Parts: sequence; C-alpha cells; structure tokens
Amino acid sequence: MAYIRGSKDGEGDRREEVRRRDDIDLEKLQQAHADLAEAHKHIRESHIEMILNLAIAAEYKDADTGNHILRISDYSTELGRAVGLSKEDLELLRYASPMHDIGKIGIPDKILQKPGKLDPDEWEIIKKHPLIGWRMFHNSSSPLLKAVAQIALTHHEKWDGSGYPHGTKGKDIHLFGRIVTIVDVFDALVNKRCYKDAWSFEQGLDHVKSLSGTQFDPELVAIFVKIEKDVRNIYNANQSIAKYIDDFKTAEEALHKVE
Ligand SMILES: [Fe+2]
Ligand SMILES: [Fe+2]
Repeated sequence: MAYIRGSKDGEGDRREEVRRRDDIDLEKLQQAHADLAEAHKHIRESHIEMILNLAIAAEYKDADTGNHILRISDYSTELGRAVGLSKEDLELLRYASPMHDIGKIGIPDKILQKPGKLDPDEWEIIKKHPLIGWRMFHNSSSPLLKAVAQIALTHHEKWDGSGYPHGTKGKDIHLFGRIVTIVDVFDALVNKRCYKDAWSFEQGLDHVKSLSGTQFDPELVAIFVKIEKDVRNIYNANQSIAKYIDDFKTAEEALHKVE
C-alpha cells in the first residue's frame, strides 16, 4: 500500500511540477508579448510623429496652416472607410495623406509664398513637387513611407488624364491619390489661402460635384457626397496637432471603429 501511495504521490508531484513550469512559461510568454506590443506601439508612435512633423515643415513653407494636413488626414480616413478599405490600408491612408505635399520641401519659398499669380515658368517648378515627394520615399522598405510616395506622386493627377506629373487616367491613378485629391481640393476651397478667401461648405461641396468625372473619380465623389455629415463634422471641428496625436495614442480604435 505504502509503495502504491508513494507512487501516486510521486506522480502527483511530477504533475504539479509540470503545471507550475507551464504556468511560469505562459507568464513569461505573456510578458514578452506585452513588451513586444509596447515596443511596437512606441515605434509606430515615433514614426507617425516624425511623419507629421515633416508634413508640417512642408506645409509651413507653403504659408498655409499646419491644420490643413490634419484635416486631409481626417477627411481621407472618412472617405477611405466609406469606400471599404481594409484596416491596414485605412491606417496607411490616414497617416500617409498628411505628407501629400512633402515634395514642396524642394520648391523655392519665393515661388511657394508668392501672393500674386504665378508665371508659367514658376508653375512648371511647382509642378515638380509630386515627383520630388515620390523620389524621397519610394525606395523605402516601410509600407507607410511607400504610401507617402504613392500619394505624393498621384495627388495632382486627374480622372480624365489632364493632371500632372504623368497625366495618368482613371483607375490607373492609385486609389489613395484619387481620394486625397478630392479632399485636398475641398479643404483648400473651404479655407482661406493667401490667394483667396474661404468658400462656404456648400460651395466647396458643389464644386467637388461639378468636377466629378473630369478631375475626380465619379464613384468617390458620390461617396464623398453620401458622407456629407461626417465631412461637415470634420469641417466644423477645430483639429490641432496636439489633439490629433493624442487621439492616435489614446483612441486608436476610432480609426478602426465598426460602422
Ligand atoms: Fe500638391
Ligand atoms: Fe494640400
């Protein structure tokens, strides 16, 4: 009996030992996973802050407010969500769209900030900014920076092929570029610029509609009009860099909200 009891106890001890070891391994694994997730989050935050600061640097050269790029990000996110982009693509669009004009870093200030009309030579120089932006980032291994390059390259292309730099047409223009061009024009219209006063929300939306099928992808314009309420919320919100980064850090689920 003693032998059997001893054998049973030994078996139980071994099982207990294995269970304890498994618990410790699981704890270690969970901790490593949490550490990795934290490090990953930190890298993404730094990456996105760097991108936003670069975008703001480019925007200041253009004498517009830094908030333009944040609204571009917000509008693009809403339009991209309504189009049905995947979570990954929506995130790329959200954080790459502020950089659409990053190539303006390579354009002289005296042209960018000229208050009057540009002469044809100056226009030719301005029209180089999409290619400058593309060249800055298209070789990057980062999907986010690749998206920046794609948006920088295509945000002045037009649906009918009359845009620049390549005169690319229709759906050959990357979807991100087709989205950003709509919201970029809309936001420029409804805000004051050094060369014009702000148009009303309705005037801006009507103008976007009037360019459907010529300058803009008609399907995207229809969706933009359909989400007018969301567009108006962004138009009325006073977006700021501090709030935008705060939103990113604390409420990232807003980006992935379920419809
Ligand atoms: Fe541009
Ligand atoms: Fe812009």
